[in-house]
Amino acid sequence: MPLERSFAMLKPGVLQRRLVGEILSRIERKGLDLVAVKLMMIDRPLAGRHYAEHEGKPFYLGLIDYMTSAPVIALVIEGMDAVAVLRTLCGATAPAHAAPGTIRGDFGLRIEQNVIHASDSPASAAREIGLFFKDDEILAWKDGNDEWI
Ligand code: PPS
Repeated sequence: MPLERSFAMLKPGVLQRRLVGEILSRIERKGLDLVAVKLMMIDRPLAGRHYAEHEGKPFYLGLIDYMTSAPVIALVIEGMDAVAVLRTLCGATAPAHAAPGTIRGDFGLRIEQNVIHASDSPASAAREIGLFFKDDEILAWKDGNDEWI
């Protein structure tokens, strides 16, 4: 399994619903590492760059409105097979089809507000990480609890 980085974003509404800890906890408990975290508002140009491949689709403008409507939490996640593992934790794009036990399966109903974004490939992850983080905002840290407890 390759050591990978993925990009994830907790979407508008997650903060307001007090779900940040629950979702980050699932990512941590799976064994993935949080190596960058940023609470931020996205402006329309950044949202447009992030979702450029969807420009022109019927849901595009609503998606940009939604993603710029309230703070998000941008994340870089590191671990073995991080891209695929994170997609599995998230579940299917449409919450109605996402299995119970997945983040989208447990915390949402509407595809327009599906709680979390996760990169769909290592190439997308690299592109998306570059949109949201500078290299020096991503921190490597050593595993091991003993010296911290
Ligand atoms: S598609 O239909 O193949 O373009 O869908 P996909 O590549 O999985 O991702 C589409 C992203 O747009 C968000 N979104 C919607 N998708 C489909 N239908 C509707 N109505 C819709 N509204 C918003 C969807 O959540 C995907 O964004 P991310 O951030 O990756 O979840």
